[in-house]
Amino acid sequence: MRMTVFGTGYLGATHAACMAELGHDVLGVDVDEAKIKSLTEGKVPFFEPGLPELLQRNLDSGRLGFTTDYEEAAQFANVHFIGVGTPQKKGSYAADTTYVRAVVESLAPLIEGEHLVLGKSTVPVGTAAQLQALADENTNDGASIEVAWNPEFLREGHAVKDTLRPDRIVLGLQEGGNAEALAREVYADALQQDTPFLVVDLPTAELVKVSANAFLATKISFINAVSEVCETVGADVTALADAIGLDERIGRKFLGAGLGFGGGCLPKDIRAFMARAGELGADQAMSFLREVDAINMRRREKMVELARQELGGSLLGRNVTVLGAAFKPNSDDVRDSPALNVAGSLSLSGAAVTVFDPEAMTNAQRLFPTLNYAESIEEALRGAEIVLVATEWKEFQELDPEWARTLVAGEPVHGKPIVIDGRNCLNTEAWKSAGWEFRALGRG
Ligand SMILES: NC(=O)c1ccc[n+]([C@@H]2O[C@H](COP(=O)([O-])OP(=O)(O)OC[C@H]3O[C@@H](n4cnc5c(N)ncnc54)[C@H](O)[C@@H]3O)[C@@H](O)[C@H]2O)c1
Repeated sequence: MRMTVFGTGYLGATHAACMAELGHDVLGVDVDEAKIKSLTEGKVPFFEPGLPELLQRNLDSGRLGFTTDYEEAAQFANVHFIGVGTPQKKGSYAADTTYVRAVVESLAPLIEGEHLVLGKSTVPVGTAAQLQALADENTNDGASIEVAWNPEFLREGHAVKDTLRPDRIVLGLQEGGNAEALAREVYADALQQDTPFLVVDLPTAELVKVSANAFLATKISFINAVSEVCETVGADVTALADAIGLDERIGRKFLGAGLGFGGGCLPKDIRAFMARAGELGADQAMSFLREVDAINMRRREKMVELARQELGGSLLGRNVTVLGAAFKPNSDDVRDSPALNVAGSLSLSGAAVTVFDPEAMTNAQRLFPTLNYAESIEEALRGAEIVLVATEWKEFQELDPEWARTLVAGEPVHGKPIVIDGRNCLNTEAWKSAGWEFRALGRG
């Protein structure tokens, strides 16, 4: 099949390359000329394992191309995915749907014949119906667009696998819509593997995505709230999570207590869900998400507070090393990253902060240019008075505490070097027996 993908960010570039991998002819469209140039040259402008190889292979095969030209896109195919951003609106909790609207407004007058738009961006419920009205207003005589919603569930760091082998496909159709047959063709490969395919109405499809993210955020904040209680009584939240996680109704996944969630999705999606519920007169229903958000943000403050305590009450002029800048491992995404937020707060409290991240340095430097950035773990650790692990990259988990000890400043307060494990990802015993003062969130 021939198809376009509007928006070539984390979602769109991955979707475009994966659709080409499945044998479709795909044109990725973006307004960002630098991004399109980079993708055309086979360079993925962000870090996503496996995507560079997939991009190159499909550029070489001729099945994948990129453009900034909407007219070319309108003529290229009759099936169009929308994967542009829906960030938090400035000064509000609501999602900014300007970019999804812009795609439909610009594309509609350019098309001829019957076209299908499959929305993948995460949008407030009701957006698809508004886009359908926008499409109807802007198409010429003899042309039409059907808008359907096909929310995306990929996880950064696993995006290629999640797109090629999704655990479910959700398709939202309007009454009398014809999109199902085309969507089944697009996803023929996954459907052959018995991937569940759920056909629902438009509002349900829009709500599925925000509900999934609200649930995941709630699960993380639940364990982090329990973690706060554990801290007051000296209990161990990781042992507690293991124990409750063995109940299969609960499950251990997303019960990793620590610095909490961040990134370009969960925080803005729960806020947008609250805002939309409010607009619809159901604000009480989602008001618990305010607490989910608050618990999450408190963990970042707690981490800074722990560092202050461990350094004897003041951060002023102290050398602090933060390992991690990305909001999670295997990603270079620093949007609303807990790690960078902690690094920034420490710096604002007067600490001399050095950051190291295996992939997110460029993005972090752009967002927080005033922090020091080390070129290696070794450089980051050298002379540190306290080390904070803020993103659970494998290389940090595998760090040799004996070797790390030889690099840091020595015995600032306790007669021992100090490490704070913000992700409960280090081997506690190994660090303690290597002579470190070991602290972690939720563990007494
Ligand atoms: N990143 C994820 O893991 C993920 C997962 C599931 C869903 N989503 C959702 O997907 C959407 C995109 O997220 P993302 O992380 O890929 O964002 P992103 O910021 O990485 O990419 C968005 C892209 O859209 C482009 N764009 C903006 N306006 C455009 C226009 N008018 N025409 C063409 N391109 C335009 C931007 O230049 C940018 O390249 C969001 O709604 C997000 O919530 C993201």
